[in-house]
Amino acid sequence: MQVIGHRGCADRAPENTRLAVRRAASHVDMVEIDVRRCGSGELVVVHDDRLRRLTGARGRVSETPYSRLRSLRVLGSEQSIPLLADLLADVPDGVGVNVELKHAGMAADLLAVLDGVDNEVLVSSFERAALREVGEHADLPLAFLFHQELKRLGRDWRHGLARARHLDCAAVHPSVGLCEDAPEHVAAARDEGFTVNVWTVKRSATARRLHEMGVDGLIVDDWAVV
Ligand code: G3P
Ligand code: MG
Repeated sequence: MQVIGHRGCADRAPENTRLAVRRAASHVDMVEIDVRRCGSGELVVVHDDRLRRLTGARGRVSETPYSRLRSLRVLGSEQSIPLLADLLADVPDGVGVNVELKHAGMAADLLAVLDGVDNEVLVSSFERAALREVGEHADLPLAFLFHQELKRLGRDWRHGLARARHLDCAAVHPSVGLCEDAPEHVAAARDEGFTVNVWTVKRSATARRLHEMGVDGLIVDDWAVV
């Protein structure tokens, strides 16, 4: 079973920073990072479009040039919001990268940044258009992300798997709440050939249960839960 560090490993260092990736690298098989486009066009690694939670600054990543982003500090640290290209340079050989695309419209730039990167790369997204674009341009493994919210809408695993199939995904990334009471769905997804990586696993007991269910990977904020 693979251990995938969520936002690097967000409980061990400021999320999605170069420090988070460097710290997680010797404890995990893969790091998960959130990617979006900033105001001057570069791809940067940051979860929220709004800057406030992470940096205390006003404004949006999508409207802020990288020249300003790089001057901001993640609250309580010396870390900044990194360029995707810079962060990838910190990932050691043998550690995979799960690039989560936060929106569509990044495929061409993503592929340019990945040129020459030898690490295993898995591209995931909640956004079907983002995965479709990558699938049209490259032969990278894709993962469809889906979460508990779908339950409320009366659409859950069946819906998630149908979309993953349609997008020709190699993997599905369901939220932990969709898996705990649904071992049959995990089994069905695996029987169909999907890799099943579950996010975000915060407790060792949950990690053990998911392991018993046969999931392929756990996306964790702290490598110690596995
Ligand atoms: O990729 C798994 C997980 O990161 C998806 O949710 O909001 O933490 O990016 P979020
Ligand atoms: Mg993410």
